[in-house]
Amino acid sequence: NKQVTVATIKEMKQNGEPITMITAYDVAMSRNVNEAGVDMILVGDSLGNVILGYNSTVPVTMDEMIHHTKAVMRGNSTALVVGDMPFMSYQASIVDAMYNAARFLKETGCTAVKLEGGSEVVPLVERLTQAGIPVCAHIGLTPQSVNQLGGFKVQGKDIAAAQKMIDDAKALEAAGAFACVLECVPAALAAKVTSELKTMATIGIGAGNGCDGQVLVCNDLLGVSTGFCPKFVKKYANLHDTTVEAVKEYIADVKARTFPAPEHTFKIDDAVLEKLY
Ligand code: KIV
Ligand code: NA
Repeated sequence: NKQVTVATIKEMKQNGEPITMITAYDVAMSRNVNEAGVDMILVGDSLGNVILGYNSTVPVTMDEMIHHTKAVMRGNSTALVVGDMPFMSYQASIVDAMYNAARFLKETGCTAVKLEGGSEVVPLVERLTQAGIPVCAHIGLTPQSVNQLGGFKVQGKDIAAAQKMIDDAKALEAAGAFACVLECVPAALAAKVTSELKTMATIGIGAGNGCDGQVLVCNDLLGVSTGFCPKFVKKYANLHDTTVEAVKEYIADVKARTFPAPEHTFKIDDAVLEKLY
């Protein structure tokens, strides 16, 4: 695989070639998704839900995001890695936001940052791209605003909200964002947003087949956990069952003293053993 850059993503949009993105939070997953050939890795603040056990992304800190992005970068070979800016790392002021975004590039070596919001983040997106920090935007359902939105639901269903989504997307493109996640957006609206854009690639999650690319949370796609699963997730594996079955077998082997077997065991010369008292 060739190194994926911001130019590659723009080219893929021009050529109508679907763009693949997946989340990762550690070195092992990073290596595996690189080997599979994914175009982009998002170190998402879904870290909060998926890895840290919070019920939203709101508690996630910059230091936690940097820690996991560093791990992902150690396993990365050719994917374009995007660091997700956590809640209140970019909302308070442009200066804070510039500093925090730069931390991702300087401390982890990743290529781009992602942040949530429409017209309200346009001045920031302009400043970041002018400073040489590629930005992936994120509109539709923006989980950092769950307390304001009153839950995780489909966005853009009435005329005003749908029109705002189109206007926001165009403004983010004009501000220089190279890509934009569309989360929980009716498929026909996401397709219309996508067709209105010339340079900014749309990356859908729960936004139908008309986007330039797709993103999923790795743990969702792999079926790592049971319990609530959003309608937009397709489970390509069932690592939950694989894990529980494997650990049950391990427990049974230890209880039966059939593990470790000779092939898992280190030897010592009898001559040495005999000298011991
Ligand atoms: O944090 C995340 O994983 C995300 C994706 C769902 C787009 O923002
Ligand atoms: Na996120």
